[in-house]
Amino acid sequence: MADAGRTARVVKNAVRSAVTQAAEVALEKVAGLDTPRAPGVPAAKPPKVAEPTKPIEPLPPKPDQTGPDRRTPTGAETLVTRDQVAQQGKFLTTSTGARLRDTDHSLKAGDRGPTLLQDHHLREKITHFDHERIPERVVHARGSGAHGVFVGYGNAKPICRAGFLARGKETPVFVRFSTVLGSRGSADTVRDTRGFATKFYTDEGNFDLVANNIPVFFVQDGIKFPDIVHAGKPHPDREIPQAQSAHDTFWDFVSLHTEAQHHTMWNMSDRGIPRSYRTMEGFGVHTFRTVNQQGETALVKFHWKPKLGVHSLTWEEAQLIGGIDPDFHRRDLADAIESGAYPQWELGVQVFEDTADETFQGIDLLDPTKIVPEELAPVQPIGLLTLTGNTTNFFAETEQIAFHVGNLVPGIDVTNDPLLQTRLFSYVDTQLTRLAGPNFNQIPINRPHAPVNDMFRDGFHQHAVHAGVAPYKPNSLDGGCPFHASGPRDGAFVDVPVRVAESVKERDVPVSFADHFSQVRLFWLSMTPVEKQHIINAYTFELSRCYEQAIRERQLLALARIDPELCAEVATGLGLPAPTAEEALPVVEASPALSQLGQEWPTDGRIIGIVVADDGDLDGVDDLVDAITDHDMVAFVIGPHGGKLSNGTVVQRTFAAGRSVELDAVLVAGCPAPAPDAFPVRDAKADEPLAPLDPRVRLMLEECYRHAKAIGAWGSGIEALAAAGVPVDVTGVVTGTKGSDVLAEVEVLLRSHRVWERTVVG
Ligand code: HEM
Repeated sequence: MADAGRTARVVKNAVRSAVTQAAEVALEKVAGLDTPRAPGVPAAKPPKVAEPTKPIEPLPPKPDQTGPDRRTPTGAETLVTRDQVAQQGKFLTTSTGARLRDTDHSLKAGDRGPTLLQDHHLREKITHFDHERIPERVVHARGSGAHGVFVGYGNAKPICRAGFLARGKETPVFVRFSTVLGSRGSADTVRDTRGFATKFYTDEGNFDLVANNIPVFFVQDGIKFPDIVHAGKPHPDREIPQAQSAHDTFWDFVSLHTEAQHHTMWNMSDRGIPRSYRTMEGFGVHTFRTVNQQGETALVKFHWKPKLGVHSLTWEEAQLIGGIDPDFHRRDLADAIESGAYPQWELGVQVFEDTADETFQGIDLLDPTKIVPEELAPVQPIGLLTLTGNTTNFFAETEQIAFHVGNLVPGIDVTNDPLLQTRLFSYVDTQLTRLAGPNFNQIPINRPHAPVNDMFRDGFHQHAVHAGVAPYKPNSLDGGCPFHASGPRDGAFVDVPVRVAESVKERDVPVSFADHFSQVRLFWLSMTPVEKQHIINAYTFELSRCYEQAIRERQLLALARIDPELCAEVATGLGLPAPTAEEALPVVEASPALSQLGQEWPTDGRIIGIVVADDGDLDGVDDLVDAITDHDMVAFVIGPHGGKLSNGTVVQRTFAAGRSVELDAVLVAGCPAPAPDAFPVRDAKADEPLAPLDPRVRLMLEECYRHAKAIGAWGSGIEALAAAGVPVDVTGVVTGTKGSDVLAEVEVLLRSHRVWERTVVG
């Protein structure tokens, strides 16, 4: 026994000394390396290789991070500072504040003996860990959020009395973007609808605009929501596929329940694969009713218009990114905020007269499968949203936020849209389970900034310490408090006294809801040729992933009712005969506003890669990085190895770790010969290393070209283009003698997002 103990000690000491030596070697290697300028810094201060041994004051949060406003559960401001809620003391304690001497070893009967039940610290630590997970959202489980501010323009006053829309009024907000179908850990870039939910912490209470990036919905009546979600979620027997609609149950449902065809077409379009949360539109979908100071009402549809324009990935990019960087959108949002490229959207409204039939030019405003084309009712901007702060703690903020379409403020009310009516029930109901009890609005991220006095009492996790003895009305013991606000003058939310037509109780829909196809055709006809091609490709891909031919044939019948060309192209791809529609196609006007293409937008936050060769012409590369950064874009220097190049330039991506899909444009500053790791055995994406160009760079340039990205080259970089088979005499490929000139031209191209002109649509 004694010998065994000695051996164990010798091994332990040897391991310790090996680790220390390795740490010292690593320390020497990294000494002198600058921190790369790319966003993504993990902590407020870079760590040392050696494990810290002395307690220090807690590190401050990173400058880009913010957190929920520090309010009491009843909405009052507090003097509590961020570090006081952050649990970042010098010493480890129990959850009740007793300092701990050792959290590395459990209390045992001898060092080889059984663990003792009396080890209260072990039990507390493990028990808490065992309960760290909460249920994920039943839909929209995968998401990412940020803090920001909304500023009203004041021009909504004639239609809406909500205080947060007043001119210059600043209201703090939290926004959570999401995908719908996937689990919490699914990839960001799947083809799906995106959520765009905003909580406005207004002086009159929280207002939640729980929107999507698609203006119509799959179903007209909320009672069908579980059906579409069950159809879109993975098959219940094998739990596949994750986070996507390319499977039998989804297409089975939408081909039978044809009111889903409009939303499905949007999903199959480029809207289903956004480039970034920052480049998505948002839509409240339903029609809401607004009320002004005089009590007059209007019907409105809410829109979020991104300042950067609406842009998408290509399908191949989306698939590659799903593997290379499943957190692509989450990272993009956080990186943009960290690097000061604050994303912005204008809130806009389409306004309609509040008529008895609740229609506009024949479009039923209560049907959530219909849009009102912007050409008929322009979107009028009424305020500006800017996202300025990343979360300090994902769970506390993004995971625990609870949106609800019933969180309304005076001036904004709901309509009888049967989808919206169900939503009014669903959100609170699901949050009772997800956030374990009825007090979730007291969680810091949900706390209103307006005073709360709701007479709700008790329940799990009650944070308020209610005074008084009479949480009921009427009472005399608490002096009759709280009183009702007398009306709008006292800031009360007053339900609009909408007349309800005399009717019978029935499970039915209005006749106007029966048109399932005219607006799908409208959307299709509004697309440019390249956008149409993407839609054809998406339908063909998704349907070819369905096992059952009957389902494919049924969906082709639906496509025939939308457009014969679309139907024929998809049918050809599937190897099936194209059916013809039995009824005449609806006659509709295209709405050019639905196309994403044809304009120019700011390039803020766009990522430009600069491919360099260690022994090439590195003069001016640092200046280019500065110029790109000065223009609020992000530069990634892509080199053969990490660290610094011979001129001192810091490399952000190696040929091995970089991939075209994270770039919006690429500049080629040299023709790097195959690097020492350019063999398939060392980097699976490397081809045989043939001079003059590293095969990973060749792949990068080929992909950028195929994905219609702007490419610029000068000096020996032009040889790299030739070696990669990238033609130089086509639109979107810029060559020159000076990097700065080439960058200027590439930046102009980037304003249109991509160079679709060089993509031939047959
Ligand atoms: C009757 C139809 C609908 C029902 C029953 C429903 C239900 C739900 C439920 C249960 C959640 C999870 C909420 C949570 O766990 O906190 C959710 C999330 C969400 N829903 Fe709906 N939904 C419906 C329609 C819609 C529509 C039409 C939109 C868009 C206009 C939408 C946008 C969202 C968004 C953005 C989220 C994520 C909120 C977040 O980020 O936490 N939903 N929905």
